[in-house]
Amino acid sequence: MRALLLENVHPEAATALRAADVEVTEAKGALDDSDLAQALQGVELLGIRSRTQVTSDILKQSPDLLAIGAFCIGTNQIDTEAASELGVAVFNAPFSNTRSVVELAIAEMIALTRRLTEKNESLHAGTWDKSAAGAHEMRGRRLGIVGYGNIGSQLSVLAEGLGMSVVFYDTAEKLALGNARSCESLDELLEIADIVTLHVDGRAGNAGMFGEAQLARMRPGAVFLNLSRGFVVDHQGLAAHITSGHLAGAAIDVFPQEPSRQGDAFQSDLRGLPNVILTPHIGGSTEEAQQDIGRFVAAKLRDFVGTGSTTLSVNLPQIALDQQPGTHRLAHLHTNTPGVLAAVNGVLADHQVNVEGQVLATRGQLGYLLTDIACDYAADVVHALAAMPQTIRLRVLS
Ligand code: NAI
Repeated sequence: MRALLLENVHPEAATALRAADVEVTEAKGALDDSDLAQALQGVELLGIRSRTQVTSDILKQSPDLLAIGAFCIGTNQIDTEAASELGVAVFNAPFSNTRSVVELAIAEMIALTRRLTEKNESLHAGTWDKSAAGAHEMRGRRLGIVGYGNIGSQLSVLAEGLGMSVVFYDTAEKLALGNARSCESLDELLEIADIVTLHVDGRAGNAGMFGEAQLARMRPGAVFLNLSRGFVVDHQGLAAHITSGHLAGAAIDVFPQEPSRQGDAFQSDLRGLPNVILTPHIGGSTEEAQQDIGRFVAAKLRDFVGTGSTTLSVNLPQIALDQQPGTHRLAHLHTNTPGVLAAVNGVLADHQVNVEGQVLATRGQLGYLLTDIACDYAADVVHALAAMPQTIRLRVLS
């Protein structure tokens, strides 16, 4: 089994794959189309970050490829639909950097509430300003979390540790952790929170969800954070509420238009405003997150290769099945049409092969069947299963 890891994926990934007897080649940069297609000949596992584009053409030219690990959060750089059609599994690291985002949010909440931005700036400029005006403790302040998912709910726990009182609003039903309280509406949250922080996901319906009406509803002197997606907030409106003094500060990590390259110029209505922290989409950018991503995605690739497990796959039906000792495993990816399970079991029965364990899952047009069988079976069973018209890919695992 061979793996190609591009874009400086964290070294933990190569270590984990080598420990599973995978031969690993590493490269610092991304590869363009023709170099990538060539590099993938004879390679079963590809590891990338966000810059390598895995198109349908590349996938079609890479018949040996079994799985792609996106060592990041997003998978837009991969044609996942084409990958599914060709039976190539795609994995990513959906939670590995969430703690990093939470810690940045805590740091920014404290910095804004103590007006550290201004104290820091004036002291660098040579002015001693020791005034307490407008500076507050976190203890006892009310934090309003919008979007109580992986990040929002972790923030809730840490904020209570600082003595804050937490309210949240989520469009889905969520379990309130600790003493946090769920609000019936976003408006209710905005009217009572001293700090409002957005942690919603990037669904299209969230475009512009935080505009003039929401900003105007916030308490005078409140602060605002967005570390979720740039397109959810009206930045011109936010700038106006900061300039007027209605809001006491803001921390923004994500922008509607973000420069694509290191060192590119950055434009925003929020530049140069008082008590506004601007960061270049670094919420999840820590060495710990990178290390966790390396370990997490490599484990997904290793398990897929070794056991057929597709837990948390971005594109395939999700299955994990404990394997009985003394069995071989057939991993059968097929088009999701009626009768495939019966047909597979018919082939096995025709060849006198007993099923020791079996589980099926479907997802859209795809079905995925793991079947454990006793080791002494005739080779033509495998040929018969591979030849089924519904078969996309059949693997025999030990
Ligand atoms: P998640 O999917 O676990 O949670 C999102 C939550 O928001 C869900 O509970 C959902 O029901 C809720 N939600 C969606 N639309 C809503 C709305 N209009 N009003 C109220 N609730 C709404 O996502 P996770 O992992 O917590 O990430 C949150 C955000 O943070 C995402 O947009 C993600 O892209 C972003 N992110 C940013 C990073 C950075 O570097 N700044 C790094 C990692 C994630």
